[in-house]
Amino acid sequence: MNRETTSSIVITGLRKSYERSPGSDAAYAIDGISFDVPKGQFVTLLGPSGCGKTTTLRCIAGLEHASEGRIEMGGEVVFDAQEKLHVKPEDRPIAMVPQSYGIWPHMRVVDNAAFPIRHGRNRRKGPEARQRALEMLEQVGLAGVADRWATQLSGGQQQRLALARALLGDPEVLLLDEPLSNLDAKLRAKLRQELRSFQEQFGVTSLYVTHDQAEALAMSDTVVVMNQGSIEQIDTPERLYDYPRSAFVADFIGSANLFPVRDASPGREGGVFAKTDIGPVLCARSAPGQEVKYHNGGFVCVRPEDVEVRPGSARAVPAENEFVGVVESSEFLGDRLELVVRSADVSITVFTRAGLGCRPGQEVVLRLDPTSTSYLAS
Ligand SMILES: Nc1ncnc2c1ncn2[C@@H]1O[C@H](COP(=O)(O)OP(=O)(O)OP(=O)(O)O)[C@@H](O)[C@H]1O
Ligand SMILES: [Mg+2]
Repeated sequence: MNRETTSSIVITGLRKSYERSPGSDAAYAIDGISFDVPKGQFVTLLGPSGCGKTTTLRCIAGLEHASEGRIEMGGEVVFDAQEKLHVKPEDRPIAMVPQSYGIWPHMRVVDNAAFPIRHGRNRRKGPEARQRALEMLEQVGLAGVADRWATQLSGGQQQRLALARALLGDPEVLLLDEPLSNLDAKLRAKLRQELRSFQEQFGVTSLYVTHDQAEALAMSDTVVVMNQGSIEQIDTPERLYDYPRSAFVADFIGSANLFPVRDASPGREGGVFAKTDIGPVLCARSAPGQEVKYHNGGFVCVRPEDVEVRPGSARAVPAENEFVGVVESSEFLGDRLELVVRSADVSITVFTRAGLGCRPGQEVVLRLDPTSTSYLAS
């Protein structure tokens, strides 16, 4: 497939370092990353604080110069470090919604919204600009407050204004940097649905930045997981959760039990037989079409909801992939019971609905179904 014709943005080998402060040992803020944002899709950069998400977005917007790599938009090169090519931010077909919304307090709501029509790439003056701004404000539910000062809006209203303004610039790509992070949890959940439906309605390609895994899973077509300036995995939300490729991704997205592997060898049915501190584990879960590669090191990974638990004696001789243990703690969380079970000096987290009376001190048997248990090479 031709990347240029199917993608709005193509990033190749992007690397960026900032001036180092004395004593700092940070190498690169972003370290040679490559990914595509396909036309019309909602793609999210997800990763912990400081992993390079904002830097990536700012390089795409043209607000930062990368030291290496290339950025293409709509088939045109807008940045090439080698060729010393850098298209100015205002000449790139993008709109950016920064974390702080970037709304001008000295302007009324409607003038904030009309700004990109009056001053943007395809500028238009006069009543037409106001009319188009009003139509867009109507769509985001702000028509009633169009003539208020921007400072008189609530956080959620400011967020919608920032989005309306960005869309009025008629961008090919919308860049959104943690636009919901200043809002309370309820409003955040509501606005993330709204944001996604606006995106679909306008068909605008979007690159969204967040460190909130729930937000990323709920909203995205594709998630790019970043860690320390590099990309760990690019996948759909479902595949990231079901088939994480590294311990970092498994741990960052959802909860995971990760057991370091001392030695690995080929197991039955294309699986891996891994020696860990809880004992030998057969791991047979792998992404469809993907072969499990084994070597010494890596991790056995099993989600807490995939661990089966039943009462049993700690002195019993366990079957394959079964481990005896003692309940260390038990917490009732309404929709589930969260247990921590100690087995061979390892703590294992288990989510279960079973009303087994799993009290601390109870002896149990844990079973790791091989098809729910994966071997991660790193
Ligand atoms: N202007 C700057 N000068 C020097 N270092 C910087 C600058 N901006 C960012 N960095 C460093 O680059 C790295 C990546 O920063 P970036 O802002 O891209 O992270 P982020 O993933 O957006 O984090 P957060 O989730 O906290 O916003 C960090 O180590 C940060 O300290
Ligand atoms: Mg940031």
